[in-house]
Amino acid sequence: MTDAVRPLITGNWKMNGLTSSMAEFEAMLAGAGPLAAKADLLVCPPATLVGAFAAKARGGKVAVGAQDCHPKPSGAHTGDLSAEMFKDLGATAIIVGHSERRADHGETDALIRQKAEAVWRAGLTAIVCIGETREQRDAGKTLDICSTQLKGSLSDGSTAANLVVAYEPVWAIGTGLTPTTADVEEVHRFIRGVLTERFKAEGAKVRILYGGSVKPSNAAELMAVANVNGALVGGASLKASDFLAIAAGC
Ligand code: PGA
Repeated sequence: MTDAVRPLITGNWKMNGLTSSMAEFEAMLAGAGPLAAKADLLVCPPATLVGAFAAKARGGKVAVGAQDCHPKPSGAHTGDLSAEMFKDLGATAIIVGHSERRADHGETDALIRQKAEAVWRAGLTAIVCIGETREQRDAGKTLDICSTQLKGSLSDGSTAANLVVAYEPVWAIGTGLTPTTADVEEVHRFIRGVLTERFKAEGAKVRILYGGSVKPSNAAELMAVANVNGALVGGASLKASDFLAIAAGC
C-alpha cells in the first residue's frame, strides 16, 4: 500500500451468520490488535447480528457496519431498516448499492444515492458499490458503467469521512476470478479522477476499495495497486483467519 490514504478492510458477510457466529467475530477482535496499526477493519454482518457484534466490539479494533438501509429514517415500511436504527445499534458504516441488491432488488443509482444520503443523515459512512458485469466488460464499457454509477449514486456532500467507494466487478464476485492488476489499476485511477474532479481535495482522500474474490493469497498483490485503499471481502471474510490474513496484506 503506497498511497497515503489509510486502508480499510471491510468484511461483507451477506446473508450468512447466526448467533453462533459470535465466536468467529470474537476471533477477529482478538487478532485485530497488531493489524490496526496499518488498516481500519470493519465487519458488516447481517442485520440480525449488527447489535450483538457492535456491543462485543465496543472499545476494540474492529468496527461494525450494515449491508443496506432504507432511505427514510422511520415510517410505514414493513420489513425495512433505517440508517438511524443501525446507528442506534452501534454501526459506523453501511454498504449501499451492492451489485446483489442492484440485481436482486432492482436498485437504481438514484435510490442508492438516497440511501447514501440516509447513511450520512444518521452520521455514518456510506460504502457505495459500483462495478461492471462480464458482458459490459467484454463490450469495453467498464469505465462508462463506473462513470454512470458514480455520477448517479454519489451526492454533492461527499467527503473522505462520509464516503467510501467500492469497485467490485460483478463477474469477480464469488467466482474466484479477479481482474489483472493492470485492469484494477486502470479502473481505480479512473475512479480517483472522477472523485477529484467532482470533490477536489476530498476526492483525493476518499478510500477506493477493490472487491471480488479477494482472499489471503491475492490480497497483498491487489492492495499494492495504486489507488487501491483496501478491500471489500465477501466469502473470505466469514473466517477470522482469512479476514485477518487479508488485512495483514495491506
Ligand atoms: P467475494 O464477494 O469476496 O465473495 O467475491 C465480494 C463482495 O460481494 O463484496
